[in-house]
Amino acid sequence: MIMASFIYLTKAQLVYEIGMNAGSASVRILNALKHTGGRLKTFEIDPRRKPVADILTRRFPDTFEVVWGDSGQTVAAFPEEAPDIIFVDGAHYPEVLRRDIKISLARLKPDGIMFIDVVDYPSFGDSLRQIIFEELSDYNILWFNRESGHAPGLAIVQKPSGWPQEKRSNAA
Ligand SMILES: C[S@@+](CC[C@H](N)C(=O)[O-])C[C@H]1O[C@@H](n2cnc3c(N)ncnc32)[C@H](O)[C@@H]1O
Repeated sequence: MIMASFIYLTKAQLVYEIGMNAGSASVRILNALKHTGGRLKTFEIDPRRKPVADILTRRFPDTFEVVWGDSGQTVAAFPEEAPDIIFVDGAHYPEVLRRDIKISLARLKPDGIMFIDVVDYPSFGDSLRQIIFEELSDYNILWFNRESGHAPGLAIVQKPSGWPQEKRSNAA
């Protein structure tokens, strides 16, 4: 998993994941975080995922937490936190992706890394990519792939270290 490499490289202390589903990425993130002493906070809307959350909480009692509800409200509920990495993988509708990116930008620490999954969702053509270019034009785009498969397309971007102060002064 490429995110594990970034977790090691950044010595990540806090990772956010929007969308847990069956927890397959959560487990891999949590295993990588064992090497950095970090923790994972996952944001999930679907209460049917509670059994998964219970299993992960038992397995990773000190490093895993689920915040239940719509990411549109829940991600913004921790203004004191600045995650090293945010994995945006909730609802893959254009308007929700744009919202989740904006909310995540406000939380991500300077130099932090954002992963955005399924940017080539077939039903939406290039519109998800377009949103990424619009919303993340000030970011360093590290990687963009377009592999075919069940869930194609992963974007990895890095927040510039001077953001948002640099952005504000440029705009002034
Ligand atoms: C693609 S799956 C996540 C897969 C997971 N990240 C992985 O790689 O194993 C999307 C998940 O996002 C959740 N979701 C959808 N809309 C959401 C929202 N507004 N807030 C939080 N979670 C949401 C869904 O319930 C689903 O479990």
